[in-house]
Amino acid sequence: VIEKRDDSAGNDPRRETGQSRRTFLTDAVAAGGVAALGFWNTASGAEPEKGAGAVNPRLFTFVGGKVGQWSVVSVKAVIGDPLPGVERLDIVTGAVAALPEGGKWMLRGVTSNDRYVTRDEKDRLIEKQAALGRPEATQMALIPIRKNAKWWALTQDERRALFEEKSKHVTIGLKYLPGVARRLHHCRDLGDSELFDFLTLFDFATTDSKAFDDMVAELRATEEWKFVEREVDIRLVRVS
Ligand code: HEM
Repeated sequence: VIEKRDDSAGNDPRRETGQSRRTFLTDAVAAGGVAALGFWNTASGAEPEKGAGAVNPRLFTFVGGKVGQWSVVSVKAVIGDPLPGVERLDIVTGAVAALPEGGKWMLRGVTSNDRYVTRDEKDRLIEKQAALGRPEATQMALIPIRKNAKWWALTQDERRALFEEKSKHVTIGLKYLPGVARRLHHCRDLGDSELFDFLTLFDFATTDSKAFDDMVAELRATEEWKFVEREVDIRLVRVS
């Protein structure tokens, strides 16, 4: 369980509590095993759903509020409605039962299997990509996106053609690896109350900020983006 934890996105409780790994683990085990092994951030007050006690390691909850490892630099509505501005972002692995005090919004999504990439593209991505959480990657962008009904009414082959053959999403993205690391979260199948279809998350060093902006501008000018009906661009910097 411990090995599978993704602490890369700033959801490591030890970072905020200042506990050593040993103390942390001892306390966690004493407190009752897996559910206590730190899938939530003690300092933030964001608690996971208890239930069966199992935490889905592919589920991530993004809590906009007053606490978290990421300080919010800007929240901009690119297409459609904005999201309320907040001071901090807390990235929690697993579910969060209720909005913590001071929280203004909560977005959730799951990582999943690939839908569109070909074998060749997948191999090139694996060869070039870095994982989130490199020490120098102090800049982060969380870009929630919703696509319109027209997009979702298309068939898989039609969407693939728009995504890559027409818009070159992977071709464009590949140019910016490994400077930019990414993680894609899907929200659509979690229920009808999700505000977005995707939560796209990126981190990079300050020296790659300009490159990141260029890439986003390039993607937003493609055919694929004509199907985007809501997009909010949230920029963050790691709290030292
Ligand atoms: C770091 C460079 C990037 C690379 C290498 C990249 C690569 C990819 C790949 C391979 C997929 C498809 C995965 C699959 O087969 O299901 C994908 C999906 C997606 N990407 Fe990117 N991407 C990059 C940057 C971005 C940026 C900057 C945004 C947002 C501004 C973005 C938004 C999305 C969205 C919304 C999807 C889901 C599309 C859908 O399923 O309809 N990507 N990306």
